Amino acid sequence: MNADGSARDELAERYLLEEGSVLLTGVQALAQSETRKPVKNFASEKEPLPPAGEMLRLLSGFITTQAIHGAARLGVADLLADGPKRVEELATTTAAHAPSLRRLLHYLASIGVVYEDADGRFSLTLLGDTLRTDSPFSVRDAAMLFGAPLFWNAMGDLFHGVMTGEDAFTHVHGASFFDYLADRRGEAAAFNAWMTRSSELQAAAVLSAYDFSGFSTLVDIGGGHGALLAGILSAYPFLHGILFDLADVVDGARKVEAISDRCQRVGGSFFESVPAGGDAYILQHVLHDWSDERAVDILKNCREAIAESGKLLVIEMLVPPDGEPDPSPYLDLLMMTLGGGRERSEVQFAELFDRAGFRLDRVIPMLSPFSILEGSPRGKGARG
Ligand SMILES: C[S@@+](CC[C@H](N)C(=O)[O-])C[C@H]1O[C@@H](n2cnc3c(N)ncnc32)[C@H](O)[C@@H]1O
Repeated sequence: MNADGSARDELAERYLLEEGSVLLTGVQALAQSETRKPVKNFASEKEPLPPAGEMLRLLSGFITTQAIHGAARLGVADLLADGPKRVEELATTTAAHAPSLRRLLHYLASIGVVYEDADGRFSLTLLGDTLRTDSPFSVRDAAMLFGAPLFWNAMGDLFHGVMTGEDAFTHVHGASFFDYLADRRGEAAAFNAWMTRSSELQAAAVLSAYDFSGFSTLVDIGGGHGALLAGILSAYPFLHGILFDLADVVDGARKVEAISDRCQRVGGSFFESVPAGGDAYILQHVLHDWSDERAVDILKNCREAIAESGKLLVIEMLVPPDGEPDPSPYLDLLMMTLGGGRERSEVQFAELFDRAGFRLDRVIPMLSPFSILEGSPRGKGARG
């Protein structure tokens, strides 16, 4: 735990080199992508819009989400990866209606996702490149998820949540978020794909912010398909891991297969119990899914399982104390709509930790909008 910053940087760098994580390969990709046009759209070269125009631009977000979602479903970016193509060629490959596909591409050109040359052929811009499946910056899985009925229909019912305090997802889909996913493989796969991808995008930031070398067993609670745990275990060859999530989810955890000799998968509910035997318990983007009461239940189960000298590591976006503009309201509204969770401030996390028998020791900022909150167990006799 006390390795100095340079050792940590070295580990992170080795991970970046060996695993080809996003930060390093991203720089290389940019250097290789001279053929891609920089991002330009109809608004970028003009004067700022007047307030009503800006408001209408914001309101047209529903068109933008579905246009990008449609392009992602068709795999347009992958088809354009090797160079410009005509609409007819794209339509033949994707079985889309060519005149309508042209109109979709014209919209995408107007917002800077693709570029149409003088011969009427379309190519990717740097922005559109992020919709390629194998781009180091790929967010195609987000494009697939955000426009799909799972998220889209729930957000369409946001007003219900605002008026009642209930979660719109349950109102629209008839079951709470994770219960609904339990019966729907396809939609669960789309959700888990974006969770995995976003963990991959964040792994380098976690590794450069935190030194895991003092631990012997790291337990990832609600670890999804294991992308974060696999990233950390790859950087620390002597560390063992336990991936804990719902049984169906850990069954699909391909990310930890390459390190299966050091990583056990355990299925179960964190509202019942979590695996014992770890000296570090990590929860990334888990607590924000839940109300305070349920989050405390999860943490209490971690408190039961953790070694007395262990560390609790919670990775979340923090709501700043001073009301400064920051990205957390976007996730907060999404959590409210999907299931009664919320984004929290450092003080609110400290309260949750305390109620569950942990002390919040420090907050470690990362090279991402997220922070690591490090806690340790308070003595068994202590309050909580
Ligand atoms: C927002 S995702 C975060 C996944 C992962 N930690 C990451 O950062 O990509 C929340 C995770 O909690 C898991 N989960 C939900 N309910 C659970 C429960 N009752 N017990 C264990 N895991 C659960 C989900 O399956 C999902 O993988």
